[in-house]
This record gives sequence, structure tokens and C-alpha cells, in this order.
Amino acid sequence: MNDKIKILVIDDDDTGRDVLSMLLRSVGYEVTSAANGESALALIDRVQYHVIVSDLILPDSSGLDILRNVRKVAPATEVIVVTGHASAQTAVRAMKEGAFDYITKPIDFDELKIVVSNALEKQNILSENRYLRRQLQGRFEFNNIIGVSPAMNLVFERMNRIVKTDSAVLVSGESGTGKELVAKALHYNGTRREQPFIAVNCSAIPETLLESELFGHVRGAFTGAIKDKPGKFEAANHGTIFLDEIGTLPLHLQGKLLRVLQEHEVERVGSNKTIKLQVRVISATNSDLENMVKRGEFREDLYYRLNVIPLHLPPLRERQQDIIHLVAFFLEKQCRLMGRAPRSISKQALEALEQYAWPGNVRELENLIERMIALTDAAVITIDDVPAKIIGERPVGEALTVTLAKAGVDLVATISRVERELISQALLSSGGVKARAAALLGINRTTLVEKIKRLKMEE
Ligand SMILES: Nc1ncnc2c1ncn2[C@@H]1O[C@H](COP(=O)(O)OP(=O)(O)OP(=O)(O)O)[C@@H](O)[C@H]1O
Ligand SMILES: [Mg+2]
Repeated sequence: MNDKIKILVIDDDDTGRDVLSMLLRSVGYEVTSAANGESALALIDRVQYHVIVSDLILPDSSGLDILRNVRKVAPATEVIVVTGHASAQTAVRAMKEGAFDYITKPIDFDELKIVVSNALEKQNILSENRYLRRQLQGRFEFNNIIGVSPAMNLVFERMNRIVKTDSAVLVSGESGTGKELVAKALHYNGTRREQPFIAVNCSAIPETLLESELFGHVRGAFTGAIKDKPGKFEAANHGTIFLDEIGTLPLHLQGKLLRVLQEHEVERVGSNKTIKLQVRVISATNSDLENMVKRGEFREDLYYRLNVIPLHLPPLRERQQDIIHLVAFFLEKQCRLMGRAPRSISKQALEALEQYAWPGNVRELENLIERMIALTDAAVITIDDVPAKIIGERPVGEALTVTLAKAGVDLVATISRVERELISQALLSSGGVKARAAALLGINRTTLVEKIKRLKMEE
């Protein structure tokens, strides 16, 4: 526990101060001492003490002054006052002004030990609470969704509007783009934040169980239904239900879901009693629901019910600017989680990450960072730590097929022609995705965009 707990002892009496310091040091605390108010205040300004033990009467000021000052500049520090004259009144004053406790002279060392350790315990609890609270708040605030790209700014703008409404939201995006993260952020920043957020992954539950999972069942409704069980919709009442992978919902359940959404009520499987509900629905899909509707695989009426507000999360390869911020965020987060010292990443390694196409999107990036931290102890992650798959294979030493004509050549124009040809091939094979095309060409996206502009290749 003693990761050097710092204690400041303030007493004008040399012997008293030395004895106190020695005793506290013998418990393992790091003790500093001051003989008057002025030097004490100078120390308090510079050092964050856990506990201050101060005599109430000092030559140049009083323990109360110190106390007031500490409350202002170091509110986390606990102050224990020592009173020589058993003066109950000043002790009470001190307590009122925010002292943790007081002890009377002559000091009983066992008492002091207990009071100090109580003060430390209180601090621990307080800072733990603060940490937990910050975690709970921080976890779902938009500021834990990293993104500075224009594409993500649009997402944030729309989210800001969504949190003020109660409409159904359909979050779409490729795997790992942050659909669940965004759904939670919408719930925990919205008016229902105090109410439950219930997630159901429609693709992870066997079809036969999904109906009862969503809507509940009564005893005897089917083999194995040994008692009444409320469904996720009931559990989410007044809050939000998050229907993940909604595209995998079988057609017969789509009909039932539509009724629940229209009537705002459910019937548990095997019962005809209706239960009124008030639930916000956020659903998510990584398949193209609109196409599924066209192909008759998803009910059109349900699609419109769910898709009152569409929220599309762009794939990571379309927001290359976010990568540096995500990398920094995950480096910090993973080092903290794994209890490792903070890391940084070399420019070269970062560029490799920026040029990769990230088919698994943010999740793939987060997993890679975690792996790289786990596999190396070095303070800086370098290109050598980046897997070959991500750096990609670069054609090296390809034979040049051009020859210099007798009449000479327009070098600049020829190079432009070669550039134009290779860029259009790269764009073609990457489906027009610039980040991927840039990776194929071994340049970064910005350079590619500049070249496209300079070569007048747009459209
Ligand atoms: N913009 C972002 N900022 C910070 N972390 C993110 C961001 N986007 C995604 N993540 C993180 O990436 C991981 C994957 O996100 P999430 O589970 O929300 O994706 P998903 O779209 O639901 O993926 P899937 O379709 O595979 O279920 C999570 O750990 C999430 O916290
Ligand atoms: Mg998900």
C-alpha cells in the first residue's frame, strides 16, 4: 500500500516534531517536517501530501490558517490537528473548518497511527469513487468515441440530434466500426440514461430461443419452460433495447417484432396477456437492409419502423485522419489496462497503420495495438513490431520496361503518364478507395490525393 505515502508534520517544538516524524517514518511513511507556518505553506504549494499533521499553535500563524489554505490549494489532503492545551473549542473549530480529526498532547502514538490510517483510508475511498464515477461517465460520453474526420463529425452531429429524440435509430456500418459503442453512447447521453440499456444479439441466439429471449415466456409454453420468464423487451422497459445484427432476425419474428413496436406491448410466449411497454429501439446491422428488403428477406414495414433515423458509421479506411488519434487512444487505454508503462509509436509504424485498409475496422486496430503492446517491452513501437500483413508486400526491383528513344524523351511528361497509369490501376483494384490505392502504391493517402489533383485525374 505504501507507494510512499507523503506526510507533512508541522510543529514549532523541535523535540515534538522530531519524535512525531520518527514515529511516522517507522511505519513506513515518507515524512517531511516544517517548524513554522511559512515554510509549511511553501512546501504545501510544491508537494502533494496525503496527510498533514499540524500543531494548532505556531509562532507565525495558526494551524487553522494552514488548514484553510490546504482546503483551498490541496483539497484532497487530509489535515489532522494537534492541540496542546486540550482546548476543546479550537479543536471543534478545526473540525468545522474541515480537519479530518484532532489529537491532544501528549500524543498517544497508537491513537495517531489509527487516525492517520483512517485519513488515508478515507482518501482511498474518495479517490476510488472519483475514479469509478469518472469511468462511468467517461465510458459512454461522445468524447470516448474518437474521431476528427469529416465523416465522424457528421456522425457526432447526428448523434447530438438523436439524443434529444426518442425515435428509433438504425445504426449501420461494417463490422468493428463502433455500432455498439455508438448505441450505448446514445442511450447513456439521452433522457433514458438512468433506465436500463439491454442489448440482444439476434445472430448469437438460436432461432428457437430468440422469440422467448425477446418477448419472454410463461411456464409450460414449451418443453423446458419451467417457469415464467420476462423477455428482454420487458427488461428494457423505460430504457433502450439494442437489437444487434437485426438483419439476421427470421421473418416470422420480424412480424412479431413489428407488432410489438406498433402496439407498444408484448405478449410472452404461451400467454395472451399483454404487457404495456415504453422502450426505445436502437438496432444495428452490418448487412445492407435495404437490399434485403428488395430481395424479400426483410420486411419493408419493419425496416421503416426501425429506420426512422439512420446513422451510418463509415469504415475506417474512409477516415484515415482518425487513425493517429485512435492509435494514441488505444495505446493509452491498453497500457493502462495491462498495467504497462505508457508507449508511443514511431512515425514509420504509424504511417504503415495509416495506409492499411482495415477490413476489421476499429476493432482490428484496437486488437493489433493490444497485441503489439503485449509482445514488446520497448517504450516505442516501431515498424518492426507491425505485422507483415499490415505493411503489405511491396513489389521490389521490378524490371523497367522503358527505353530511351534516340530523339530523347520528355521525362516529366513520361513520368506523369506512368504515375497516371499506375494510380488509375490502383484505384481500380481498390474499388476507388483512396487509402487502399495509396497503400498499393506505397504512398500515403494525402500524397495520392495531391497527385490525383496535380495530374488532373479527377473523374
Ligand atoms: N470511434 C471509436 N473510438 C474509440 N473506440 C472505438 C471507436 N469505434 C469502435 N471502437 C472500439 O472498437 C471496438 C469495436 O466496436 P463495436 O463493438 O462497437 O463495433 P461494432 O460495429 O458493433 O462491430 P460488430 O459489427 O463486429 O459487432 C470496441 O472495443 C469499441 O470500443
Ligand atoms: Mg457489434
